[in-house]
Amino acid sequence: MYDPPPMIILGIETSCDETGVALYCTDRGLIAHRLHSQVDLHAVYGGVVPEIASRDHIRMLLPLIQQILNDTGLQKPDAIAYTAGPGLVGALMVGSGMANGLGLAWNCPVIPIHHMEGHLLAPMLEDEPPEYPFLALLVSGGHTMLIAVAALGDYNLLGTTLDDAVGEAFDKTAKLLGLGYPGGPALAALAETGDDQAYAFPRPMLNKPGLDFSFSGLKTAVMLEVKKVEAAGDIESRRADLAASFQRAAVDTLVGKAIRAAQEQKLERIVVAGGVGANQLLRTELAARFDGKVYYPRLEFCTDNGAMIAVAGAQRLAEAGDAGEIRAHARWSLDTLDVPSAA
Ligand code: KG4
Ligand code: ZN
Repeated sequence: MYDPPPMIILGIETSCDETGVALYCTDRGLIAHRLHSQVDLHAVYGGVVPEIASRDHIRMLLPLIQQILNDTGLQKPDAIAYTAGPGLVGALMVGSGMANGLGLAWNCPVIPIHHMEGHLLAPMLEDEPPEYPFLALLVSGGHTMLIAVAALGDYNLLGTTLDDAVGEAFDKTAKLLGLGYPGGPALAALAETGDDQAYAFPRPMLNKPGLDFSFSGLKTAVMLEVKKVEAAGDIESRRADLAASFQRAAVDTLVGKAIRAAQEQKLERIVVAGGVGANQLLRTELAARFDGKVYYPRLEFCTDNGAMIAVAGAQRLAEAGDAGEIRAHARWSLDTLDVPSAA
């Protein structure tokens, strides 16, 4: 049987506020990765400023690629995978332009990757990767999606958010509570010290049929409560209870819908990916309430990174084209992707 030689794929992620690069070998797995976070640059503005993001990606991307090549002693990879969307167009253009330029210079194939497919495949970086089919719960700052994954590229979107993404709800609630940006991790840390039964916040759409989500009502409920507590001069003593009660409501909603989706689709595996997948309560609750097996990427690969783009590139090598087409899609629906035809 023909055994193809191992290939090394350079992964590039620049869709938002992290510059991520990685080298993934089809034989040995992940061999190097580096990440530069822009969090400090955007924190003063309370959210990501697109122009600042693009400029910082330009400043950091090439030196980071140089560093992982130096780390491994490699001259050049065999292929390049980059995030082509969805995301901030200016930020995406930096990764896309760099990937295509290097592809021309190195004469190697360049593969455009869907950012959410990267998140979805991130658990493939682990020692015990999930087998197909599985249910994916993709929870990030921009997305909240339930997807039935039959095979690579065969994605059926079962539910999505009608308004805010769950990560956005964490970030906005954190802001209301006077926590910094990004708020998710800070809110989760504060919640540890609070009573999650203190406030009965709504579990949006949990008891309605269907698998869509809505988080703006929950955010508004917290806002109204914060105003009341502030007016009473109690905010300092109630902050942790508010955080814990919000987190409990958000997690109950995610877990309830994910388990319902898995049961309806008769899927025994759930993959959780995206930044909110780092949330400890979400992990504990899913483990306690789901009968099947739950897979996660390691914590550092839950949030944006280059490794997930490199591993997705490895899976899509068969369709690698030549460098030359700069792709950057602000919006790009995951269920329009194709199953790669066998090369
Ligand atoms: O996937 P990601 O790095 O970027 C996007 O593509 O959006 O996700 C970032 C989101 C932010 O909203 C952040 O607040 C949230 O993930 N996040 C968390 C936690 N860690 C990150 N939310 C809740 N709990 C956490 N521990
Ligand atoms: Zn992401």
